[in-house]
Amino acid sequence: MNIKGRSFLTLKDFTPEEIGGLLDLAAELKAKKKQGILGSSLKGKNIALIFEKPSTRTRCSFTIGCVDEGGHPEYLGREDIQLGHKESVKDTARVLGRMFDGIEFRGFSQQTVEELARYSGVPVWNGLTDEYHPTQILADFLTLREQFGELKGLSLVFVGDGRNNMANSLMIGSAKMGVHFTILAPKELWPAQSLVDTCREYAKESGSRITITDELDAVKGADALYTDVWCSMGEEDKAAERVALLKPYQVNQELFDRTGKASTILLHCLPAVKGYEVTEEIFEKFADVIFDEAENRMHTIKAVMVATLGD
Ligand code: CP
Ligand code: NVA
Repeated sequence: MNIKGRSFLTLKDFTPEEIGGLLDLAAELKAKKKQGILGSSLKGKNIALIFEKPSTRTRCSFTIGCVDEGGHPEYLGREDIQLGHKESVKDTARVLGRMFDGIEFRGFSQQTVEELARYSGVPVWNGLTDEYHPTQILADFLTLREQFGELKGLSLVFVGDGRNNMANSLMIGSAKMGVHFTILAPKELWPAQSLVDTCREYAKESGSRITITDELDAVKGADALYTDVWCSMGEEDKAAERVALLKPYQVNQELFDRTGKASTILLHCLPAVKGYEVTEEIFEKFADVIFDEAENRMHTIKAVMVATLGD
């Protein structure tokens, strides 16, 4: 895998081999860190971390991943810089590109992260937009590999807001990597048909099946269920409507019973709003794997920085 100098904006831009290569590198960096071995591939590099929306895992993963490899991270919050208020994205991109070696962006519009990449001249990493959350998928897939050995042929069911950034990115990643992927959601929250069509094209290559359904029995035989908050950041005003739509889709014991399997696991990107998308009981039952997944954010984000920017 050689992705030096490239941005990481959506998994659509990466081949299955490149995604697999990033997972291999993350596993290697994780094993080394557990032995107390850190790298120096970001030595002398400065990276900007732009956050229009709040974050625990993504911010800490970029910060620690960068410092572990000898780089310097600089946090730029919503109130700290002029981006999009007083200064155009294009101008901010050109300024930051003169000072920093890489830029992470978390915010609303996918167009902003793409514009930063276009005009900064340095690798830009998508730390979540309304549309996609590609670094999260690497952590999810590393966790699935740790649990099941390999990704190809696994059956993964996303339950909840089937048109949010997580559902979209999991669908792209699964289609590329040969994971059978189902979105289980009420029709009102199904993903854009154009993205489903694109993913079905990827799926033809990898041998994966993409299913969009509102039937709860779709969880039958699943290796893993996945859920996420019912209201993503910026959609808090939709709470009442979402609760009404998604209540039948809560991940609870009853839904797990429908899998017909004792070995099905649960993944959650976190933060979790217990009592809504998942019951406290089920969340706690799978806490070990869910917090492995959270830890894996750091190893996988480090791998993305090392592969695109490292020496
Ligand atoms: N999963 C995730 O992106 O978490 P944060 O919002 O805390 O970064
Ligand atoms: N869909 C969630 C993901 C959080 C990591 C959100 O955008 O808020």
